[in-house]
Amino acid sequence: MTEEVNSPSPSRRSVIGWGGVGLALGAAAAGGTAVVLTRSTDEDAPETAASGGAAVPFHGPHQAGIATAVPDRLHFAAFDVTTKDRAELVQLLKDWTAAAARLTAGHAVGEGAYGGQPEAPPDDTGEALGLKPSRLTLTIGFGPSLFDGRFGLKDKRPAALVDLPKFPGDNLDAARSGGDLCVQACADDPQVAVHAIRNLARIGFGKVAVRWSQLGFGKTSSTTPDAQTPRNLFGFKDGTRNIAGTDDASLDKHVWASEKDGAAWMAGGSYLVARRIRMNIETWDRTSLQEQEDVFGRDKGEGAAVGKSKEHDEPLLKAMLPTSHVRLAHPDSNSGARMLRRGYSFTDGTDGLGRLDAGLFFLAYQRDARDAFIPVQRNLARSDALNEYIQHVGSAHFAVPPGVRDKDDWWGRALFS
Ligand code: HEM
Repeated sequence: MTEEVNSPSPSRRSVIGWGGVGLALGAAAAGGTAVVLTRSTDEDAPETAASGGAAVPFHGPHQAGIATAVPDRLHFAAFDVTTKDRAELVQLLKDWTAAAARLTAGHAVGEGAYGGQPEAPPDDTGEALGLKPSRLTLTIGFGPSLFDGRFGLKDKRPAALVDLPKFPGDNLDAARSGGDLCVQACADDPQVAVHAIRNLARIGFGKVAVRWSQLGFGKTSSTTPDAQTPRNLFGFKDGTRNIAGTDDASLDKHVWASEKDGAAWMAGGSYLVARRIRMNIETWDRTSLQEQEDVFGRDKGEGAAVGKSKEHDEPLLKAMLPTSHVRLAHPDSNSGARMLRRGYSFTDGTDGLGRLDAGLFFLAYQRDARDAFIPVQRNLARSDALNEYIQHVGSAHFAVPPGVRDKDDWWGRALFS
């Protein structure tokens, strides 16, 4: 990476930044002396050197963060829209898009974190100064509640963006569920992911409020099957049979929404189901190896299906117990249903009873959850042996629009146009 990492935005040089506008207007409104704030010029602005690092292209037909390689860290945030003004929401989405393009390229937001007017808060909060782009991806989604009529979007709600049904065993916490908007930030460096969400939330101050957020580590599925399969907190390889980011035929069939699916603005997008799944790791850790392997239908070391010797050998479903997770989740048990999983492990302190509040933050992208997550989860909720060790405690469903094509495009343009 270059010293551009924290450089100010060329398009906004010598222009008042977000903070500056607020301060100038605030001072004027309060009857005080309005300070005319100008930002530093390029020459004045201190730039921080950073080394080269992987940046994932932000522009394209699909949003990054779905089929792109899964970095190891996550900060996911769901937002409530607090403004009632459609134009203000549209402006926010434009501002977020501009910021996201900069952040994912490894730049600071707006005019940067320092070197600007001392009277104004800096545009960027600064904690990612000097850090690499770290394969940061930022992916936006729109929840069912955004289409409730506040913003004139009722007719635009895709039929596929259903309210998820209640599944047996669900113990959902409303405070960790739903949301008008979501942003998924994935990066190799947790500070880069957190910085991105924090700065988007900051830009959205007064228009959106964070409803809930989730930090994740240790991806539990990947889109790169050639790489070593990651393991979940139960110690099993997870993501062995996932949709690969290079498998265009499967992505088109199972992940990308098409114009033919009903909502034209979603063509090239996808539907994201997020579930916070608590894993009772203390109970699991006292369970025999045989029972653990029976629960999944795969062995713990190699990850091979029952009766097979290699991880990627085709599973023989009939050889597994009828209650095994892999048998029940497999496409052959669900009329061919498939989804792209890219979840993360989490540990969020304790539950107050001496146990870790740990689990899997399950994220799955699909063309239509009515043909993928919903039937598979129905099957699992009914019979999965894993249910003894897990509990779904948070849930959300989002329409994830197609990618931002170029610098004139913005998140949600097709929806709001
Ligand atoms: C804490 C909860 C869960 C854990 C620990 C878990 C773990 C695993 C493991 C170890 C595998 C085998 C390796 C692999 O192919 O990835 C697997 C497979 C799979 N899981 Fe889960 N899983 C969980 C929840 C879910 C949920 C909620 C769904 C969807 C509703 C799901 C869908 C699948 C699918 C589709 C497969 C691949 C089946 C195949 O094609 O062979 N899992 N899971």
